[in-house]
Amino acid sequence: MKVVMIGAGYVGLTTGACLAELGHSVTCVDTDAARIKALAAGATPIYEPGLDDLIRKNRDGGRLDFSADTKGPASRADAIFLAVGTPAGANGDIDLSYIEAAARQIAPVMKPNTVVVVKSTVVVGTCRRLREVIAEKRLGLDFSVASNPEFLREGSAIEDFLHPDRIVIGADDRRAAALLEELYAPLTRRQTPVLVTNTANAELIKYASNAFLALKIGFINDVADLCEQVGGEIEAVARGMGLDRRIGTSFLSPGPGFGGSCFPKDTRAFVATGRKHRARQSLVETLVAKNETRKSSLARRVVAELGDRARGARVAVLGLAFKANTDDVRESPALSIIPLLQQAGLSVRAHDPQAEANAARHLSGVEMHDCLYAAAQDADAVVILTEWEDYRALDLKRLAKAMSGSLLIDYRNLFTAQKIALHGLRYVSLGKSASPKAAGAVVSKASKRPELATAAPNHL
Ligand code: NAD
Ligand code: UDX
Repeated sequence: MKVVMIGAGYVGLTTGACLAELGHSVTCVDTDAARIKALAAGATPIYEPGLDDLIRKNRDGGRLDFSADTKGPASRADAIFLAVGTPAGANGDIDLSYIEAAARQIAPVMKPNTVVVVKSTVVVGTCRRLREVIAEKRLGLDFSVASNPEFLREGSAIEDFLHPDRIVIGADDRRAAALLEELYAPLTRRQTPVLVTNTANAELIKYASNAFLALKIGFINDVADLCEQVGGEIEAVARGMGLDRRIGTSFLSPGPGFGGSCFPKDTRAFVATGRKHRARQSLVETLVAKNETRKSSLARRVVAELGDRARGARVAVLGLAFKANTDDVRESPALSIIPLLQQAGLSVRAHDPQAEANAARHLSGVEMHDCLYAAAQDADAVVILTEWEDYRALDLKRLAKAMSGSLLIDYRNLFTAQKIALHGLRYVSLGKSASPKAAGAVVSKASKRPELATAAPNHL
C-alpha cells in the first residue's frame, strides 16, 4: 500500500519506518526542510533506540523515502497519515492549526477514495472537522477521514508500535475501516487485538487512556508522600497493589511528576474538553494541578535537605530528559526544577546521556558536562531526575569521592538506602521514611562543608 506520512517527528518517523517494515511503501514529508535534508542524507534527527537501523534497512530496501514536497507524494497515496504536532493552545485546549493546515495542503491533490488517517492526538470531533476542511476545498471528492491513535512510548517506540497491546481504528465508513485493517494485517495476524469503532470513540480512547495512566502516576506519587510520613516503603506498597491483576504493576513508579510531550498536554486538553461539554473531569483536573506543584515541592525539598547554607551550594543534576532513552525534554521535570533551584541561589551543573543539547535551549546558567562524574565534582549535592541505566550503574565510590558534600537525592528511586550508606552518602529518595528504624540505618559521610551536613526535614 502507498502511504504518505505528513510530519516526520517522533511519531511520524517511527510510524513511517514501522509501516515500511510491515511491507508498505512509505514517504515521510515534513515542512522542516533541514530535517528532510538530514534524513535524506542518512541522519536521524531524534534519538530513539533502534530507529536509525530501521530507517536504514527500509530505505535500502526501497520501501521508505523522505520528501520536502507534500503534493507529489500525497497525489499518489492510498492512505495519508497526519502525524503533525497538536501542541497546547490557549486555556488547556490544543492547537489544531498544524493539522488543519496539513489537511488544506493535501486536499487539492488527493485522488478519489484516499483515506486520511489522523495519527496525531486530537480532541473529540477533530476528524469530523478535518472532513469539512478537506470537503470545502474539494467539492464532490469521495474520501474518508479515519482516526488511528498512537499509543507508543518514546524510548521504546519501535517495540510498542510493532507489538502493541491493541490497535484502535476509528472509522465512520467501511472503506476507511477496511483500508486500516489491511494496513495492519501483518500485526493483527500475530494476534494483536484490533478495535474497530467510530472516529469519536477512537479520539476519546486516546485521551481517556493517557489520562488514566497519568492518574496512576499521580496516585502513586501521593501514596509515596504518605509512606514518607508513616514509615512505609513505596516499592513494597506498589508491588503489593500491582499484583492485583485489576491494578497491574506498571505505571506505579513514583517520580518527579510526569512530563513529556503527551501526558501534560493531553490531560490538560481532556480537562478542557470536559469543561466545554459540561462533563467536568475533576479527577484529572486535580491531577494536573498536583503534577505542577509536585515539581516545585521537590525543588524546595532539595533546598531544605541542604539546610541553612543552601545558598551558593553546588548541585549536580543527573538527567534532563523527561524519561530515560530519549533526547526529548518537552515538559521535562528537569526544566521546571532546575530554574527553581537557581532562583533559590543554588548553582547547577547537569548531565544527560542524550538530552543536553535539547535542554540547553531551555535553560540558562547551567554548566553541562558530558561526564557525569565531572558534573558531580565538588558538588554539595547530586540530584537524580531521570532513570537512565547509566545512573543505575553509576560507580558510587567514584561519585562520593568526586563530591565535596554527601547528599544524594534520588527522585527516581534507583538505589537502596543501604547501598548508598556503604559509600558514606546521605540518601534521600521518594516514598520511604526518613526514620532509620523504618528505612534502614543510614550513616552519613561527614560533609566536606560541615554546614551542609545539618539534618534537614525529609518532607516539606
Ligand atoms: P513532533 O513535534 O516531534 O513532530 C511533528 C512534525 O510535524 C514536525 O517535524 C513538524 O515540522 C511537522 N509538521 C508540522 N506541520 C506540518 C505540515 N503541514 N506538513 C508536514 N510536516 C509538518 O511531534 P510528535 O511528538 O511526533 O507528535 C505528533 C503527534 O502525535 C502529536 O499530536 C502528539 O500528541 C501525538 N503523539 C505523540 C507521541 C509521542 O510519544 N511523542 C505519542 C503518541 C501520540
Ligand atoms: C505516553 C504514553 O505512555 C503513550 O502511550 C502515549 O502514546 C504517549 O505518552 P511517553 O510520554 O513516551 O508515553 O512516556 P511514558 O513512559 O508514558 O512516561 C510519561 C511520563 O510519566 C514520564 O515523565 C515518566 O517518567 C513518567 N512516569 C511513567 C512516572 O513518573 N512513573 C511511572 O510509573 C511511569
